[in-house]
Amino acid sequence: MSLRFPKTSEFTGSLYAPSRFEGQIRDLEVEGQVPLDLRGSFVQVAPDPEYPPMLGDDIYFNGDGAVSAFRFIQGHVDFQRRYVDTARLLAQRKARRSLHGVYRNPFTNDPSVAGLSNSTANTNIVPFNGMLLALKEDSLPYAMDANSLETLGEWNFRDQITNTPFTAHPKIDPVSGALIAFGYEAKGIASRDIVCYEFDRHGIKTREVWIEAPYAGMIHDFAVTPNFVIFPLLPSTADLDRIRGGGRHFEWQPELDFRFGVLSRRAEAGDVRWFSAPNCFQAHVLNAYEEADGKIVLDMPMASGNIFYFFPQADGRTEQPETLKSELARWTLDPHASSDRAQVKTLFPWPCEFPRCDYRYVGQRHQHAFMLVMDPRLPYAEERIGPRPFQFFNQIAHLDLGSGHVDAWFSGDTDCFQEPTFVARSADSPEGDGYLIALLNHLAEGTTELIVMDTLRVQDGPVARIKLPLRLRMSIHGNWVSDPHADGLGVTSASD
Ligand SMILES: [Fe+2]
Repeated sequence: MSLRFPKTSEFTGSLYAPSRFEGQIRDLEVEGQVPLDLRGSFVQVAPDPEYPPMLGDDIYFNGDGAVSAFRFIQGHVDFQRRYVDTARLLAQRKARRSLHGVYRNPFTNDPSVAGLSNSTANTNIVPFNGMLLALKEDSLPYAMDANSLETLGEWNFRDQITNTPFTAHPKIDPVSGALIAFGYEAKGIASRDIVCYEFDRHGIKTREVWIEAPYAGMIHDFAVTPNFVIFPLLPSTADLDRIRGGGRHFEWQPELDFRFGVLSRRAEAGDVRWFSAPNCFQAHVLNAYEEADGKIVLDMPMASGNIFYFFPQADGRTEQPETLKSELARWTLDPHASSDRAQVKTLFPWPCEFPRCDYRYVGQRHQHAFMLVMDPRLPYAEERIGPRPFQFFNQIAHLDLGSGHVDAWFSGDTDCFQEPTFVARSADSPEGDGYLIALLNHLAEGTTELIVMDTLRVQDGPVARIKLPLRLRMSIHGNWVSDPHADGLGVTSASD
């Protein structure tokens, strides 16, 4: 029986051919020196389809979630990779074929999986309350054991929440350890309802608020400050009739304004105000904070049009990414102003994405940003590796928002970075002082390595290159799990 992945850009090439690997490797090869104060795990997740798409083709975002863990211990790094055992993965393993159709369209699924969670758990993996939460924004989280990566099951916070969508980008309050999260399309596919949750550091729900969005648009990421949560509402909308008819979940709306929903964290009911901005695209938020005069400042990469070519507008048109103006932007929202117009200025004028702040400053005024950059002025070896793939970034960068200084590293004309994660050098090190950890794909060689950068000298290149004997497909998001007692794979601590 033939079992072949399609020869499309979503399933081929060094970045997007499925990896489909589960297993573990002790003591990866290391070039350079892994800092001894890095003690814990870097965990991240990739959409990585186990089976070829049921309908013959699919988008990258619909792959099964495969979690990678790099465990750092005394300069050594162990590696483990394991799929999230979602309901859909277990069903398709039993059938030995994909049973799911169009992305986020359960009406196109095989009847045998009707009623099962549609989650791929493929977007982010977040440590919380002693577990890892594997997240996909259309479904509840999946909980995983942080040590074994065993899937513990769908997680509704011990029956404290109903079966609602749950963002892949929850925020952890750096002071209280609380987790703040939301779900959109929360009362059913294409509904305008948003639910916002807060849980204390022990996972006890302390707040649940429901509001309505002005349209059923995508809300992929959000921001949290001490007094507000801010929802960036993307003019890429869901329509139930279209979805019931087997169509795409999202469709770009070039005539719709971008919106920011500002919800008070203090009011009992859904006290939300929607600000407007010109039509634009956004995926992630760097951070947000409140000024002394009450204004909210929110930094995020943005583009002048739709980057997600796989969610085109109604007539099927999509824009070429290189024709769009992309930048890191600073938005100002004034809850006390009579105008609902958001103000914007440019912080960094080049295409950038996967922004990370120092996690100790979430919701607070920040000075340092880490991100991937696509600098079109740098060489690109198209003759060797073909056209630039989706999410190709050729620099990893540290941007000092105080001085405007950019400290960046270019690895080569056939190399692509994956999302960086910041790790503080110590609990009390200054903001932005620490390490950047990121996967780096060498597209010409078809190899992947994990690099460790010192944030104070990014342009010098990695202090350690941790070599994988296999190629990892492009992932989405990851995080550092601090563990001063980490012992690595299969090693039992003397205190156990
Ligand atoms: Fe994301």
